[in-house]
Amino acid sequence: MSAFYREKVLSVRHWTDTLFSFKATRDSGFRFLNGQFAMIGLEVDGRPLLRAYSMASANHEEELEFFSIKVSDGPLTSRLQKIREGDTILVGRKATGTLITDNLIPGKRLLLLSTGTGLAPFASLIKDPDVYERFEQIVLVHGCRQVNELAFGEQLVQKLRDDELFGPLLSEKLSYYPTVTREPFRNRGRITDLIASEQLFNDLGQTPLDKATDRIMMCGSPAMLEELRQMFEQRGFLEGNHTEPGHFVIEKAFVER
Ligand code: A2P
Repeated sequence: MSAFYREKVLSVRHWTDTLFSFKATRDSGFRFLNGQFAMIGLEVDGRPLLRAYSMASANHEEELEFFSIKVSDGPLTSRLQKIREGDTILVGRKATGTLITDNLIPGKRLLLLSTGTGLAPFASLIKDPDVYERFEQIVLVHGCRQVNELAFGEQLVQKLRDDELFGPLLSEKLSYYPTVTREPFRNRGRITDLIASEQLFNDLGQTPLDKATDRIMMCGSPAMLEELRQMFEQRGFLEGNHTEPGHFVIEKAFVER
């Protein structure tokens, strides 16, 4: 048995010069938990060329979806950005990753903090009805340099708001907070600063950070993750993993090339 499923590309959407997303068929045997990642890629010169990608689709969905950067000299993404409907991609059979709700101690508010394509695992998690059962409030924060980089997330949230099942769950529980650092926008600034200054919570009209009730997942820029880890640890939050759940879990946004 091959280590990979061979899946067909169903659609590709280019969001900016540096961001695209695509959908592909999903083998009925491919199981994953929302928030996890798998190795995906292309066969190049008869050999698999793979990188870790979080599933942006939820595990109840029939199709797979991924959100990727484009790097012109990146071994995989320089090729992957050219895929078209009908092409074949490789999907590793085993999904894994730390951004799963079981790695968190039960809490009341779930903060999903992401930059760039680090949004992908949270795109999956906000389509998981179980997440809305476990938490009273969910805050999805997406930080980017420019406004147009927010489009994938904005459209995802809009689609869910219009959805019969998710619409009511979102309006009751989900706050979406896109923020931009390098051009004018209604929310501005780095996620680290927005949390340290409490502006995020003030803007949302919510209570400040509280270890007793807040649980956190983060995915994105390594520099941001390191700063956030220190900030949360200084406040007594503990990192969770598969053996011991904690107050927060971390995953870097994968593909850099
Ligand atoms: P900034 O524009 O101020 O660097 P990148 O494209 O470099 O991965 O960055 C994505 C987003 O993450 C940008 O808005 C960037 O802000 C922000 N960012 C980069 N480094 C950090 C950090 N150490 N802490 C918080 N946000 C960061």
